[in-house]
Amino acid sequence: MDVEKVCLSKNKLKLFPLQLFTAVKQVSALPTRAVAAVLTLAAVVMISTVWFLPPATAPVSYDRKAIIIEGQRRILFSGSIHYPRSTPEMWPGLVKKAKDGGLDVIQTYVFWNGHELSPGKYYFEGRYDLVRFIKVVKDAELYVNLRIGPYICAEWNFGGFPVWLKYVPGISFRTDNKPFKVAMQRFVEKIVSMMKSEKLFEWQGGPIILTQIENEFGPVAEYGGADDLSYAQWSAKMAVSLNTGVPWIMCKEDDAPDPIVNTCNGFFCDGFSPNKPYKPAMWTEAWTGWFTSYGDPLPHRPVENLAFAVANFIQKGGSFVNYYMYHGGTNFGRTSSGLFVAASYDYDAPIDEYGLLRQPKWGHLKGLHQAIKSCEKALVSSDPNVTSHGLNQQIYVFRSKSGDCAAFLTNNDTESNSTIIFNGLKYDLPPWSISILPNCTTEAYNTAKVRIQRSEMKMISSVGGFSWNSYTENSNSIPKSSFMMQGLLEQLNVTRDSTDYLWYTTFVDIGKDEEFLKNGQYPLLTVASAGHSLHVFINGELSGTAYGSLQSPKLTYNGNAKFRVGSNRISILSVAVGLPNGGTHFETWNVGILGPVTLSGLNTGKLDLTFHNWTYQIGLKGEALNLYSITGSSCFEWGEFSQKKPLTWYKAFFNSPDGDEPLALDMSSMGKGQAWINGESIGRYWPGYKAFGSCNGCDYRGFHNEKKCLTSCGEPSQKLYHVPRSWLNPTKNLIVVFEEWGGDPTDISLVKRINVDVELQK
Ligand SMILES: *[C@@H]1O[C@H](CO)[C@@H](O)[C@H](O)[C@H]1NC(C)=O
Ligand SMILES: *[C@@H]1O[C@H](CO)[C@@H](O)[C@H](O)[C@H]1NC(C)=O
Ligand SMILES: *[C@@H]1O[C@H](CO)[C@@H](O)[C@H](O)[C@H]1NC(C)=O
Ligand SMILES: *[C@@H]1O[C@H](CO)[C@@H](O)[C@H](O)[C@H]1NC(C)=O
Ligand SMILES: *[C@@H]1O[C@H](CO)[C@@H](O)[C@H](O)[C@H]1NC(C)=O
Ligand SMILES: *[C@@H]1O[C@H](CO)[C@@H](O)[C@H](O)[C@H]1NC(C)=O
Repeated sequence: MDVEKVCLSKNKLKLFPLQLFTAVKQVSALPTRAVAAVLTLAAVVMISTVWFLPPATAPVSYDRKAIIIEGQRRILFSGSIHYPRSTPEMWPGLVKKAKDGGLDVIQTYVFWNGHELSPGKYYFEGRYDLVRFIKVVKDAELYVNLRIGPYICAEWNFGGFPVWLKYVPGISFRTDNKPFKVAMQRFVEKIVSMMKSEKLFEWQGGPIILTQIENEFGPVAEYGGADDLSYAQWSAKMAVSLNTGVPWIMCKEDDAPDPIVNTCNGFFCDGFSPNKPYKPAMWTEAWTGWFTSYGDPLPHRPVENLAFAVANFIQKGGSFVNYYMYHGGTNFGRTSSGLFVAASYDYDAPIDEYGLLRQPKWGHLKGLHQAIKSCEKALVSSDPNVTSHGLNQQIYVFRSKSGDCAAFLTNNDTESNSTIIFNGLKYDLPPWSISILPNCTTEAYNTAKVRIQRSEMKMISSVGGFSWNSYTENSNSIPKSSFMMQGLLEQLNVTRDSTDYLWYTTFVDIGKDEEFLKNGQYPLLTVASAGHSLHVFINGELSGTAYGSLQSPKLTYNGNAKFRVGSNRISILSVAVGLPNGGTHFETWNVGILGPVTLSGLNTGKLDLTFHNWTYQIGLKGEALNLYSITGSSCFEWGEFSQKKPLTWYKAFFNSPDGDEPLALDMSSMGKGQAWINGESIGRYWPGYKAFGSCNGCDYRGFHNEKKCLTSCGEPSQKLYHVPRSWLNPTKNLIVVFEEWGGDPTDISLVKRINVDVELQK
């Protein structure tokens, strides 16, 4: 117990553990009144910053055909890689694989809530080292499309907004609201000036050729009012005034004012045209798959389908395609959003979560890029002559003045083969496919003819049989740090997202003469929560669990409360699973138990507990003790291993597996919780959430003509959790697991991910 006390006092400055940024020294939140003052002060400081000004004629511009770099119109292939979703050690390898795959550009969002931890306190280290990431791309001689947002959606916690922003007095998100605009402008200016002083824009010799302001605002503004529309216009003006010297884009924003280019996001964008005839057609998000939510099957997008969509976009005049995602990566820590988004953000991307090539996706797209690049001159210097050759067959011919000729032959019949005669030659096209003829004669590529072998990935067991110690949270104690209030408090307002967990505790007195004690029918407890999961304990015993889903984060718990004569304790652990990432007016969003909370089946009828006195405890004891960290876990006296108890922490040590294959924790035997390796969080795990939902088709996602593209139905949505190699030491690595449900840690193992084909070739 003494050891525990020492650890507690050492961590006294830490209000709450914030696993999102385990490597960061916790900066305690400023009182809200001070926030406005800091914002104003910072805005003044920014205005006095000396700006680097781009040359009068920017080397990056655009016209109706394409982005123009150093005087050349370019067909550009781009891929999204989000820097915090992998490790700095992985970045060079990922970028090289992107370049080898035929990409010209890397696209990333900027993650505001990872950078501005409290107003004016910035963090740009580790996975959040934005400048280092951009320099990695520069070293590979690729360009960067920087999507500053700073609203980013991205299945990222709170859509990228810092949670403290919700508590700035008078704030209203993504609308014409002064406190919001001040904070947003300050952050965008911060990023732009940082890029300038690091000389990262193209005119400075850097890789950044495009910048984005806001994100997918058009669809939400449709339901909004005049304030939303004027906010979009303000965002655009503010961005342009920052003189980045490269074009600004706004995706899904049909009324993006000049000179900003409005761009398309979607599974297909061939029907898209920009809002002015002098802007190029750009596809900022060509969805390579989809994200995984706990409770949902795994989405896949077949590469033939994606290749068709891209070739179709190019033949219809598109000149910029960004794959979202090219490498999805991992939602480490508590960064995933409240759509029940899984720790894995694999996205069925061409480079998988672990950094390995996903074949045939990567290779078939590489072939597509090569074929289109060999048509580049003809594509950028002419408009096509389009002719029909049947109901569903077309030929697009591009001819430059200097004699280049490129042709795209299209068979968009979804069922049948087709033969197209072009210039007297016969070309056979499979259903729903496009053939590319870079010299108008020889077919270099057909979107449906996949010649790349499928890679077969396998996980092989490496380290298992951990020797665990454990510690179980006591749901029946009231720590000194708790406080009492009448009524139910909104969770985020209490925790400020410093933890997923908030305890709600109240007491109910039961008299001897209660009928239910005689007939054994316990009263029914009903708890309504705004999200996302909860565990009910009656007198210290787990009584039940409930959780929402991607479709409905709200939930209602119903369960019998095993009461006894005298005072009974109801303790409810409300658990957030990330905050929502989409929409407007984030200031109105709620989490946690908002009620009503009722008990029915008592002699006295229905008892409403909603306005009872409730005791609140922020976070878990293990979190306050930093049990997940190397220091916190070492100065705590862990107990003997005890199995399958809810709310239990486990700790073990292991040596690093040999080799360099990517690693994952196989958590199949566990329920729900979080896990850390040497103090780094692998994300929220939840193998106890089995995939349900429609598994017999993907048309609802727009995967035209595909019937079997969802997997893992009835299985856990995610069993394997990426452990980056760079987190490991050769020996004595610490693994800490916090299990909510009572899973069995004896079956946890560390496995290697191998490509079977590559292994066979060795
Ligand atoms: C387009 O191609 C057709 C068929 O080859 C040809 O008859 C026509 O003259 C072409 N049109 C233009 C504007 O080049
Ligand atoms: C094929 O393309 C033509 C011309 O763009 C269009 O009219 C037709 O609807 C398309 N068919 C299918 C099945 O998409
Ligand atoms: C299309 O042609 C290929 C190659 O000749 C053949 O194997 C396939 O069965 C045909 N498919 C259809 C739908 O006719
Ligand atoms: C077209 O390109 C192919 C492959 O590069 C080549 O074999 C063929 O001779 C070329 N045809 C003409 C007419 O240039
Ligand atoms: C948030 O908490 C503060 C202080 O506890 C309280 O005054 C305020 O009413 C709460 N706001 C909401 C929306 O619950
Ligand atoms: C709640 O607690 C306060 C302070 O201890 C007490 O005065 C009050 O009677 C309690 N209210 C209820 C409904 O128990």
